[in-house]
Amino acid sequence: MFEQVASLKNMMSRIKAERSENDSLSEQELMELQSQRRDPKEKKLEQVRSEYMDFRSHPLAQKIDAFRTLSKTFGIENPFFRVHENVHGTRTTIAGRDCINFSGYNYLGFNDHPVLRRSVADAVLKYGTSVGASRLVAGERPFHRQLENKLSALYEKEDAIAFVSGHATNVSVISVLFGAGDLIVYDGLSHNSIIEGVKLSGARFYPYPHNDPEALEKILENHRTEYQRTLIVTEGLFSMDGDVPDLDRLIEIKNKYGCILMIDEAHALGVLGSHGRGLHEYFAEKSMVCRRNQSDCGEFNIAEKVSRYSGEVDLWMGTLSKTLAGCGGYIAADRQIIDILKFNAPGFVYSVGLSAPMAVAASAALDLMLEDNAPVMRLQHNAGFFVSKLKSFGLNTGKSIGYAVIPVIVGSSHRAVNMSNALYERGINVQPIIHPAVEEQQARLRFFITSEHTESELSETADLLAEAARKEGLIK
Ligand SMILES: Cc1ncc(COP(=O)(O)O)c(C=O)c1O
Repeated sequence: MFEQVASLKNMMSRIKAERSENDSLSEQELMELQSQRRDPKEKKLEQVRSEYMDFRSHPLAQKIDAFRTLSKTFGIENPFFRVHENVHGTRTTIAGRDCINFSGYNYLGFNDHPVLRRSVADAVLKYGTSVGASRLVAGERPFHRQLENKLSALYEKEDAIAFVSGHATNVSVISVLFGAGDLIVYDGLSHNSIIEGVKLSGARFYPYPHNDPEALEKILENHRTEYQRTLIVTEGLFSMDGDVPDLDRLIEIKNKYGCILMIDEAHALGVLGSHGRGLHEYFAEKSMVCRRNQSDCGEFNIAEKVSRYSGEVDLWMGTLSKTLAGCGGYIAADRQIIDILKFNAPGFVYSVGLSAPMAVAASAALDLMLEDNAPVMRLQHNAGFFVSKLKSFGLNTGKSIGYAVIPVIVGSSHRAVNMSNALYERGINVQPIIHPAVEEQQARLRFFITSEHTESELSETADLLAEAARKEGLIK
């Protein structure tokens, strides 16, 4: 208090002295002088205000502006955020134009399945469209546990937990289970939600080169002992490249170095394995084929093998937004892990519970998938058919193993946008994937195949794509 009074007195006498000194100055000169003599903190605040009170100068805004200017200059139509006028299926209508659609993850065609429509309509009539608040606050509805029980059974785990967003699942789960003193090693091409979770966790982290178990092992050999818990995390079917990790090697490495293994099955559920269970079913069946080829079928039980693979993965993560035609994400794991998440994962505790339409849609879709594997078989046939067509034209499908996610790598982002627009003009809706989502020379068109595409739609698309690629000088 005394200090404040003293400094006020000082200021007053300084101003008095300055006034007599400045009597001969003009009004403008006086104002300039005053602004020069202002407290430097106050002056800085003025600069801060003018520069940072909006987002015009934000680097991301400038990037978008540059993209728009470039598109305008070269007359390139923006292929993003087009409005589709009907249900998301194998065909779509954009601005009145009927297109064959490859832009979504409706892998088994459940999005407009009559069973889902009916179950969801009934559920909305009974429960409404929202559960009102977080489940911790507002309590649960029967459909929450029904869905989670089905998910835990799918992976033969003790329990499961469903979140309202797949992205938030990865961010919340990774960041809450791991922290300072822990280590996370993740595939370098992992989905953004994994990487955000890793960064937020506060754990030490290393990406390993895509699908390179030797590089992963080297990191663990050098660093494992310096840390407490260590997570290895990767995708079951890579969303950009359509390839799979070597689950056998991941399990071997996880066990050798005492790690926790997490697999993101967002694109693997409904796609891999003869019943669409995912990576564990795919590997169980693959190992069976190997043994058959070696005429060593012996005492072989495929279900047992699926269980064994399932048990070796500590956290099965997946989304409700793709094969399951809803919206949300899940983890299937030991009860202890699920308990921790239920009371601590921010995306669960502080976010509204899954709504009836989304939970019931996912639940009904899961039943459909497991009851009859005909759609899974059709999807696998369609994807194989499409990829072999593309290869016969000499198109570059990268590392894709030909299951649902099929990229066609075209080089620059500019070319990818051009080709996407050219195909759109011919009635094919396929999105370009451009830098920074992928490296600049790895820009691509990414095709999501579904069980409901017809061979004639796939053939027509391959022909038109080859034509566009020839125009770009990609193939002869
Ligand atoms: C591998 C992977 N994980 C997580 C997510 C996030 O899922 P959602 O879109 O359901 O939030 C995605 C989204 O496409 C994904 O590809």
